[in-house]
Amino acid sequence: KKGSHRTFMEKEIFEQPGAAQSALFSRVDSNQRRIRLGGIAEHMDELLQCRRVFLVGCGTSYHAGMMAETVIERLCGYSVTSVLASHFIDCLPHVGPGDMCVFISQSGSTADTIAALEYANKCDALTVGIVNTVGSSIYRQTDCGVHINAGYEASVCSTKAYTCQCVSLLMIALCIHFEQRLRQNQPVSDLYDEIFDGIITLPDALSEALDESKHIHEIAKKISAASSCLVLGRGFSYSVAREGALKIKEVSYIHAEGIAAGELKHGTLALVCDDIPLVFVAPCDRYMPKMQNAVAQCTARRTDKAKDGVVIITDDTAWVSAGFKSVIKTPRVHEMVQPLVSCVPLQLLALYLCEERGFDVDKPRNLAKSVTVE
Ligand code: UD1
Ligand code: F6R
Repeated sequence: KKGSHRTFMEKEIFEQPGAAQSALFSRVDSNQRRIRLGGIAEHMDELLQCRRVFLVGCGTSYHAGMMAETVIERLCGYSVTSVLASHFIDCLPHVGPGDMCVFISQSGSTADTIAALEYANKCDALTVGIVNTVGSSIYRQTDCGVHINAGYEASVCSTKAYTCQCVSLLMIALCIHFEQRLRQNQPVSDLYDEIFDGIITLPDALSEALDESKHIHEIAKKISAASSCLVLGRGFSYSVAREGALKIKEVSYIHAEGIAAGELKHGTLALVCDDIPLVFVAPCDRYMPKMQNAVAQCTARRTDKAKDGVVIITDDTAWVSAGFKSVIKTPRVHEMVQPLVSCVPLQLLALYLCEERGFDVDKPRNLAKSVTVE
């Protein structure tokens, strides 16, 4: 049931604070400041022996892996690679004992992801599932895993499942870090504490990000006639740019590309002109000076003085003072948790672009919710 919402996509975007809460529910031990994941506890010895991690998924689930890559690497010391399931089965990387292959899937029944899982199982890698659907194929074929508890997702376009996938991956990283330090008789790192605080306050931060919805709708009205748009981010925000572009193209049918801002001068800058709206994901993190530079590079090649076609998603009000009209404010959280918050405005932007252009948000053409053939 859609309740008071016009579409399932809208409903599911607005359900995200509650969905994140469900993913965290009874897994966060606030007194001991640790995460308890029943789904991986029994396999902790094997997890700690791993050296490499592959995060495997398709579409949005792949982007959740991209988002978590650096966090897992920094917290747990593994070498981590996120990879598209279709690419994994095309390239058949050398995996085996000592490798952890994590399969991320809302439905738990995506054909490419299952094929990659079957290969990893055959190679005797440790296989871990991150799924929403209890009893699904990926749940059944993995050695262990975590249910993300997002609740039923009806819209073809994945939103709340993405958020819960990211939360679950961060919980796994925290859980492993805690156990590593416990066994070495060492205290947890500062980064652990920061990310722990970031995820327990995430439901509130998501609610605050949703408060910008009306403003985002107004921005969508201004750019809805575009036939192409670029979403730019760097560092922790690159995966968000990719995910945001996927959302936009999937429901609004505007061609959208998620670009690493550091790559602008290597080709994409040639596309920058007044006709193409630019969306920058530019939180106040360690990459801010470089993002300011990327924005300046692009605005120098545009003539629209009102800068209506330049959208900035940020937790830094300095952009408003700098004369940008379309600034979407997000709450400030730790830079490695920020991608979860920055993604919300992009989901809303995609939703409103689709509505403005008059398409069916919940049933984008040519797409199915569950892709059960390769
Ligand atoms: C259980 C509840 C969860 C609740 C949590 C805390 C269910 C299904 N799970 O989760 O909703 O938040 O207690 O009270 O009711 N597994 C796989 N592969 C996967 C996913 C899971 O093998 O892809 C396995 C796990 O290893 C585990 C079992 O399925 O053995 C259940 O996993 P999960 O639901 O995540 O475990 P809990 O955290 O105990
Ligand atoms: C995008 C979207 C798809 C899915 C992809 C994987 O909004 O929904 O890109 O993320 O088809 O599906 P699951 O997660 O079910 O394996």
